[in-house]
Amino acid sequence: MFGKKKASPQIDKDQLELIENAQKRIKQKKRLYIHFVIFLIGAVFLILANTVLGIGKEFTILGKEWFLFAILIWLFLFVYHVFNVFVTQKFMGKAWEKQQLDKLVSKQQVRIEKLKASFVKEETLIAQSKVYNEIKSNTKRSELTIIVAAAENDAIGKGNKLIWHLSDDLKRFKSLTNGHHIIMGRKTFESFPKPLPNRTHVVITRQADYKAPDGVILVNSLEDAIDAARSDNQPFIIGGGQIYKQAMSIADKIELTRVHHDFEADTYFPKIDPTVWKETANTFHKKDENHDYEFSFITYERK
Ligand SMILES: NC(=O)c1ccc[n+]([C@@H]2O[C@H](COP(=O)([O-])OP(=O)(O)OC[C@H]3O[C@@H](n4cnc5c(N)ncnc54)[C@H](OP(=O)(O)O)[C@@H]3O)[C@@H](O)[C@H]2O)c1
Repeated sequence: MFGKKKASPQIDKDQLELIENAQKRIKQKKRLYIHFVIFLIGAVFLILANTVLGIGKEFTILGKEWFLFAILIWLFLFVYHVFNVFVTQKFMGKAWEKQQLDKLVSKQQVRIEKLKASFVKEETLIAQSKVYNEIKSNTKRSELTIIVAAAENDAIGKGNKLIWHLSDDLKRFKSLTNGHHIIMGRKTFESFPKPLPNRTHVVITRQADYKAPDGVILVNSLEDAIDAARSDNQPFIIGGGQIYKQAMSIADKIELTRVHHDFEADTYFPKIDPTVWKETANTFHKKDENHDYEFSFITYERK
């Protein structure tokens, strides 16, 4: 586990080759230089050996002293050495340079391809995160809220009318929904004498030829109603029974007025499941001369 770490080469293979070649070249030239010096000394020595020391004085070739031939042969060997160094073994010449250049170019191309791939990957990730943030912020902006007044037995209406008159509840409805989209079923819409001021009405009906006053948006499903209200940061679902039932699974919030009494009715609000909804506010209102029943304003938020 704690064995010796294998040393990894720090220098690129091509760079190493280049260095080795340069070292070889230096050695070759050094050897050639030494050869030249030895040749000079040797030539002088041969001349002196013959002329001063008298070695082989009588030995001549074609009437010339032998050392001349010895020096000529040696000179020939030296020229051959020079030829070898500068011509035969010219391994760092044009061809070698071209080969290195080709290697370098192909390496750069591989690197460019890799960079391109990682750039595309990064771009995709950025685009994905942008879309994700957009969706997230859009979802966050819109808080679909159910607003309802329901009795203890969940009764909300009878004969397409409300069952009670509680002025503070109506005031609260007015102030909460003011300036917002109010989404409702066709029957609830028809229970109003006329559209409510300063609110955008979105009415859901299956009737293709349903007529409504100017400014009222007609849609054929709850999904289309929510889509029509997408510019609103808090669209309200205002009833009635059928629409509440469909909206319970998608709403973010419920503003409930719980009327503390049981009533006979034909339309009811669905049960509020405490495992899905948490109560975040609760204000009790006593019975008084303007209000025949006790009631509480309760806010629920999806858990
Ligand atoms: N206490 C409260 O807070 C409160 C609030 C609102 C209403 N209310 C009461 O609730 C009662 C009305 O409720 P309700 O359940 O009878 O009627 P509603 O929900 O107001 O409207 C039902 C109508 O909406 C349309 N609709 C429903 N679901 C649809 C869908 N998925 N696609 C297309 N259209 C759809 C249909 O219209 P078409 O028939 O035209 O196709 C349907 O007949 C009234 O008594 C009213 O006073 C009480």
